[in-house]
Amino acid sequence: MRFTETVALITGAGSGIGKAAASRLAAEGAKVILVGRTKSKLEAAAKEINKAHKLPRAEIFSADVTDEEDIKELADYVREQFGDLHVLVNNAGGSVHSKIMDTSASDWDFVQNTNLRSVFLVSKILGDLMANNADKEKEHNHSRSIVNVASLSGHQAGAHIPHYSAAKAGVINFTRALALELSPFGIRVNSVSPGFVETPLTEEGLKNEQFVKAIRKNTALKRAGRPEEIASVIAFLASQEASYMTGSDVLVDGGWLIK
Ligand SMILES: NC(=O)c1ccc[n+]([C@@H]2O[C@H](COP(=O)([O-])OP(=O)(O)OC[C@H]3O[C@@H](n4cnc5c(N)ncnc54)[C@H](OP(=O)(O)O)[C@@H]3O)[C@@H](O)[C@H]2O)c1
Repeated sequence: MRFTETVALITGAGSGIGKAAASRLAAEGAKVILVGRTKSKLEAAAKEINKAHKLPRAEIFSADVTDEEDIKELADYVREQFGDLHVLVNNAGGSVHSKIMDTSASDWDFVQNTNLRSVFLVSKILGDLMANNADKEKEHNHSRSIVNVASLSGHQAGAHIPHYSAAKAGVINFTRALALELSPFGIRVNSVSPGFVETPLTEEGLKNEQFVKAIRKNTALKRAGRPEEIASVIAFLASQEASYMTGSDVLVDGGWLIK
């Protein structure tokens, strides 16, 4: 059990990779706070997690991670209900598809806000709570860490997702800046860059036979990944097993970039 006496908050936890990460952290002893905009999705995810344990381990909080006021309210809630935060997983994200010449400024802003502004805001406001409690760390020997979910597209720009590719490259470099700034508080910050993973985000694409063929052809492991295969790497980075890692990005792409 790597996360006993650990409070962990996961954004975008109502589905896909975020839900799998919350489930994995809870399975290893963490109390998990599930954040997202759609309450019904969060409730269903929390119910599923809590069903697997004797005592409830999952709580939910509806918030838009691009909205500063929502995040301040979230920080107040965490402070009042849990008193501390040890692990933060900045996972919420999403995209729309368009070529650069067909991308409106509002679509550009939407994708930057969802994927990059969100990581900045949540890290700043909840990172402050984590850093303020860092002195207690020595007493409790708690590992504190932040894991940001970037993307393969942050390494290699994807077709028709220029805004998303730019934002995810930003997440990888923001991770390094944050790692440096939070290192004096003993807070490690790393990112995970998934390749193609079967989630609601890729559901439509994975119904397209051409797209599935392209994934098989271009991925060394010849398949898309499962959310649990990203969650296990998120859990590793969040845990003390990665105690000498900070400012790193871990590519989990089934071997896409080596083809
Ligand atoms: N699936 C892949 O192939 C893949 C590959 C590389 C990277 N990623 C990244 O992995 C992360 C998780 O994506 P996923 O594939 O698991 O897709 P997903 O199932 O669509 O999960 C994204 C979650 O983020 C939440 N979200 C989106 N905008 C939000 C906002 N403004 N405020 C709060 N929550 C928000 C969504 O819930 P609500 O709509 O209810 O808020 C949703 O539950 C994303 O950062 C994505 O870019 C995915």
